[in-house]
Formats: sequence, C-alpha cells, structure tokens
Amino acid sequence: MLVAPSLLAADFLHLAEDVEMLSAHADLIHLDVMDGTFVPNISFGFSVIDAVAKVARKPLDAHLMVVHPERWFKRLQQDGVSMVSFHLEAAGEQASACLREIRERGMQAGLAVNPDVPVEALFPYVGQADFFLVMSVFAGFGGQAFIPESLGRVQALRAEIARRGLQTPIEVDGGVNAQNAPELARAGAGILVAGSAVFASPSPAAVIAALRGA
Ligand code: DX5
Ligand code: ZN
Repeated sequence: MLVAPSLLAADFLHLAEDVEMLSAHADLIHLDVMDGTFVPNISFGFSVIDAVAKVARKPLDAHLMVVHPERWFKRLQQDGVSMVSFHLEAAGEQASACLREIRERGMQAGLAVNPDVPVEALFPYVGQADFFLVMSVFAGFGGQAFIPESLGRVQALRAEIARRGLQTPIEVDGGVNAQNAPELARAGAGILVAGSAVFASPSPAAVIAALRGA
C-alpha cells in the first residue's frame, strides 16, 4: 500500500516542516488543487506548488479539482510532478486526450470521479489511465466523513481492471484513516490519500505507517 498524505491538511504557516516530515515518511505527497469553480473552495496554486517541488524528496501527486485541467499539465511537468489526476466530470469528452497529454509529458495520468458519478463511467478508460482516483467524499474540503459505499465502488473498478488483465492502481481519497484502511485494501485500493488522519495526529509518522501496513 502506498500512502499519499494530503498537504491540504498541513500547517501552511510551517509548510517547510510538513514537507520535510512527508519527505521522510510518506510514499507520495498529494497536492489538492482547487479552483473555486469545479469545487466550491480554493486551495493553492503554483506559488505553493513551485515552492514545495523545490524541497520535496518524495514524488508529487497533483489532484486537479479544476475546470480545464489541461491548462496546467505543462507547468506541473516543469515542476517535476510525477502523478497528475483530473476529474472526468471536468474533462468530459476531452478525458482521453488529457490522459494522453499527461503521459506524453512523462507523468502518470490519473482519472478521478466524485461519489455521485457511477463508477462504470471509468471503465472505458481502463487501459488509458495509469491510475484511477475514487473520491470517498465530495471533492472540495478536507475533514469530511468517509462514504462507506466507496468500498463497493473500489471493488467494482478493481474487478473490471482485473477482467481486462491489468493491475492499474486505484487511489482512494477522502475520510481515509487507520480504521477504514484495511477494508479499502481488501476492496482493492493501492494508494491511500489521507489529510486529517495524518496531520491531526500527534504522531503523523505512526499514522502513515499504519496506513501503509493496511
Ligand atoms: C478533498 C481532497 C482530499 C482531502 C483529503 O477534496 O481531494 O485529498 O485533502 O482530506 P481528508 O483525509 O481530511 O478527508
Ligand atoms: Zn485529493
């Protein structure tokens, strides 16, 4: 299991310390980019991503919760970001082209969906995406409660990926903690994103280790 703590839950007044902690303990560093249009919240943009990229010692995993995600692929590539996901709801018919462009830029391409999108909507992209991101809360805010129906969605997507003879990783994002991580692992998740569970803990490294062992 790979663990991708979300920097959204970090202490923005001491971001360098938190990036250092994640560089020591996490597998990936998850960057939640929100534009105030695709989701009703704004997080951070390139002034923060550029700064994080300069010091991060773990691969960066950018989760674009924005309209027109294709506008940002080049800058993410310039920052050395390793994984880029965007939402099917935002890209629509451009999803295949977006996945292709991310891959052509040498990054891993991920397709994300909110909980109200039938998970079957991802099936046509099995074989095109390097990973999938199944949201287990509605994108926009950290600290929300895990939606239990997400487990069945991960299982269904895992089954379809297996049916196609592939092993594409499934990332799960939202309300993930040490309690639901084992169920998520059994359902077929391969990457766990966790914001509050990691940063609200007095020992973030221990939470990361627990999630990894799930
Ligand atoms: C929500 C973001 C998540 C969020 C996770 O829109 O995509 O990555 O930061 O935070 P928690 O783990 O607190 O739900
Ligand atoms: Zn995210």
